[in-house]
Amino acid sequence: MENFVLENHTKIIFGQDTIGQIGSETALLGKKVLMVYGGGSCKENGIYRLVQKSLSKAGVAVIEISGICANPVLKHVREGIALARGEKVEAVLAVGGGSVIDSAKAICAGVPAEHDVWQFFRGKKGIRTTLPLACVLTIAGSGSEMNGGMVLTNEESARKMGIGNKRLQPVVSILDPGATFTVPPDYTAYGAVDTIAHLLEFYCNKEARQTPVQDRLMEGVAQTVIAACEKALLEPTDYDTRADLMWCATLALNGWAAAGLGRVGFPMHLIEHSLSALYNVPHGAGLAVVIPAWLSWQAEQQPERVGLFFERVFGIPEGDKKDNALQGIDQLLAWLRRVQCPTSLTELSIPASEIPKIAENALPLAKLWRLRDYTQPVIEEIMHRCR
Ligand code: NZQ
Ligand code: ZN
Repeated sequence: MENFVLENHTKIIFGQDTIGQIGSETALLGKKVLMVYGGGSCKENGIYRLVQKSLSKAGVAVIEISGICANPVLKHVREGIALARGEKVEAVLAVGGGSVIDSAKAICAGVPAEHDVWQFFRGKKGIRTTLPLACVLTIAGSGSEMNGGMVLTNEESARKMGIGNKRLQPVVSILDPGATFTVPPDYTAYGAVDTIAHLLEFYCNKEARQTPVQDRLMEGVAQTVIAACEKALLEPTDYDTRADLMWCATLALNGWAAAGLGRVGFPMHLIEHSLSALYNVPHGAGLAVVIPAWLSWQAEQQPERVGLFFERVFGIPEGDKKDNALQGIDQLLAWLRRVQCPTSLTELSIPASEIPKIAENALPLAKLWRLRDYTQPVIEEIMHRCR
């Protein structure tokens, strides 16, 4: 195990009927807040009303910015920063999923900055200070509710970049699994795929050699999410199933699984971000196409970890790691199809002739994330496996 520092100051309030606590929690951060939300699902399912009622009861004044899209864009963040500055808000409240929370994080970092917010995403400027952030999570998957990551698309240059900083951690996040009952089947599955992708990235791209505790944690979370996703599609309002999906997603990317792994890489995310940036593919849908392709490539380079993961997660009898890796990839593909995810570029309506453009688009992020082995030819080779 490698040395590590684990610092996660996000307070999680998890459970049924917890959204009503957002007012008193937000009041601790400021008397005037910018509430950030998406395209309207929170109004349709009643979460918006619950949040507003709680904020009003706690005496918190609210300014709103809505319309944050899936694969959030720089334009909305810049608008949010201008609004927050003009209204002199003291804190930000995100009500939504990864797209809303990441936009809110970018607003929190951008408001006190003396330069344009995109400079952070180019790695040109460091984040020194931020407004405090509270979250009400409405969809499981990104893990943004309990980490310091944020991902944003610059729609002008078609680049989707992700960065991390501990100052971006939400101060508090409310996780009520009931809030996710209305998440449609496709996004329910995409969230589960995202969770599995986070686990696989850590499991297969770590520096430390011996990590038995982390391995078992990740395998357990992966097994749980795979089963819970299928169940949630059959019974979308089953509370315990939604609770499993929600907590698994948080655990996969809140630092616990990664502690002690040493330097880790996120190559599947690297490639997926180009699919989102160029074709506005939902993050989990893009990952569903990239994961099997990357795994089949990785199984040729280093079959040990891929094989072990599938032996443990799918119960494949221990044996030749490369054979088991390939068997596991087939089982994963079957699961992805059962939960109605795309597994090929064709299903995303992206012709193979686009592959060089996709690979080229990934290169700046590969540089930022120091994924030096992921050159244009390597990314193209992986992309050709997106069958
Ligand atoms: O906009 P609304 O109307 O709210 O609809 C959303 C959106 O269309 C809908 N939705 C959310 N909660 C709902 C609901 N629909 C019905 N009922 C509810 N309760 O779901 C759609 C997708 O929402 P989004 O926030 O995009 O999903 P997710 O949480 O998967 O976030 C994806 C984003 O997070 C980034 C991704 O790249 C992507 O941009 N990620 C962020 C990470 C981080 N900050 O650590 C790490 C991840 O790897 C990921 O990259
Ligand atoms: Zn992800």
